[in-house]
Amino acid sequence: MTDKLIIFDTTLRDGEQSPGASMTRDEKVRIARQLERLKVDVIEAGFAASSNGDFECIKAIAEIVKDSTICSLARANDRDISRAAEALKPAASGRLHLFLATSALHMEKKLRMTPDQVFEQAKTAVRFARNLMGDIEFSPEDGYRSDPDFLCRVIEAVIAEGATTINVPDTVGYAIPELYGNFIKNLRERVPNSDKAIWSVHCHNDLGMAVANSLAGVKIGGARQVECTINGLGERAGNCSLEEVVMAVKTRKDYFNLDLRIDTHQILAASRLVSQTTGFVVQPNKAVVGANAFAHASGIHQDGVLKARDTYEIMRAEDVGWSANKIVLGKLSGRNAFKQRLLELGVAMESEADINNAFAKFKDLADRKSEIFDEDILALVSDENASHGSDPYSFVSLSQHSETGERPQASVVFTVNGKEVRGESDGNGPVDASLKAIETHVKSGAEMVLYSVNAISGSTESQGEVTVRLQNSGRVVNGTGADPDIVVASAKAYLSALNKLQSKADRVAAQG
Ligand code: KIV
Ligand code: ZN
Repeated sequence: MTDKLIIFDTTLRDGEQSPGASMTRDEKVRIARQLERLKVDVIEAGFAASSNGDFECIKAIAEIVKDSTICSLARANDRDISRAAEALKPAASGRLHLFLATSALHMEKKLRMTPDQVFEQAKTAVRFARNLMGDIEFSPEDGYRSDPDFLCRVIEAVIAEGATTINVPDTVGYAIPELYGNFIKNLRERVPNSDKAIWSVHCHNDLGMAVANSLAGVKIGGARQVECTINGLGERAGNCSLEEVVMAVKTRKDYFNLDLRIDTHQILAASRLVSQTTGFVVQPNKAVVGANAFAHASGIHQDGVLKARDTYEIMRAEDVGWSANKIVLGKLSGRNAFKQRLLELGVAMESEADINNAFAKFKDLADRKSEIFDEDILALVSDENASHGSDPYSFVSLSQHSETGERPQASVVFTVNGKEVRGESDGNGPVDASLKAIETHVKSGAEMVLYSVNAISGSTESQGEVTVRLQNSGRVVNGTGADPDIVVASAKAYLSALNKLQSKADRVAAQG
């Protein structure tokens, strides 16, 4: 008999709390759809009470995604819980995720509450939530640094009130695998009604052990839900990475003996979508989804893999979505072939008009670049999806001149609320001149905190994908842009970041 391991993805909530990773409603819906294709069991779509924007995102996702449970985070108070329940109304299957800190440090310094007050509030909140929904998760925030006696008391009480999942967060990433596994095991053994709930792990990666800790929570502690994010996205050093935890459990089924619902073939598409949407580049040597994860450079390894794959490969690249044949389309490919490739890559376009737009851009790119790779298509689609009719700024064209010994000049044409303007400037280099040219009109006052260029498919023929991170009045946003000309890609990324700066609403943080 095998047990099932529930995969709870929190890319859209905990992942989005990473500075600069904030996403628009459309971006979140697109990622949620991909998570559904990946067959994630639970999607934490946001924190409804934190902002109207988050509320609307959760509602939109609950309306569209029907094959995964949709969850909203809520602080343990009536207002947050009602707001979350309201956002989840359209969901086919909804979950309320309540949290309240239980460590002495958090209770005293952050909440300024006594343990007895926290105990009462946790109970009352779960009772209130249970009247609104059947699926209730409770997280004692900073659980791993909480006093086990107090934690047992709180957990027993919230299960008695109807909590169906108990999540034990290592909020600050302080745990060590064996200790965390035993911590969960001990709680499960001591709480008298522990068998009435599913136990869950939620680990942050501050010491680089989020995946190891989560797996120990499963193996030693008996947890049957793992909370994780695509690419390990999240505040500080991030969360437990979904792709790593899933492939560990799949590849070592001999050890874990657990079933997963996940369709692993969708992992790479999910990783790329999240990376391109947030501008958080995946390191080449990242397990499972890094560009080098399946590359064998040494002669001995290459020779071994050619003779028998399993000499050096423990997983098949195709099983996580890497296609064997990477050159996919060219100048002569038609609309049907393009549409088919989008389907294979798991990209859903809203309408035939969107496909036509993307196809026109594909043709334009194919005229300039002889071989089109999957990465090019994903970048193109992500560019296409990132721009909205309602965005104030949109790129039109660019010209620039640079010559050794002379200061580069750039002229950029873009639209501001539909009206075309031209900005001109010089700069330290062509990119600097182009972005300064945009600023002659926009005058955003934003500070650039990150600029990075990545060759999408690895050669000088490749498209450049640029990420720009801007900060203004305490708000941080990322913009991305792709083009074979990296100066154009930079201008697109800059305008995309300016659009996000304009649209981002203030939010309440879920945790410190
Ligand atoms: O890390 C944490 O404690 C959290 C909770 C809100 C579950 O993200
Ligand atoms: Zn967290």
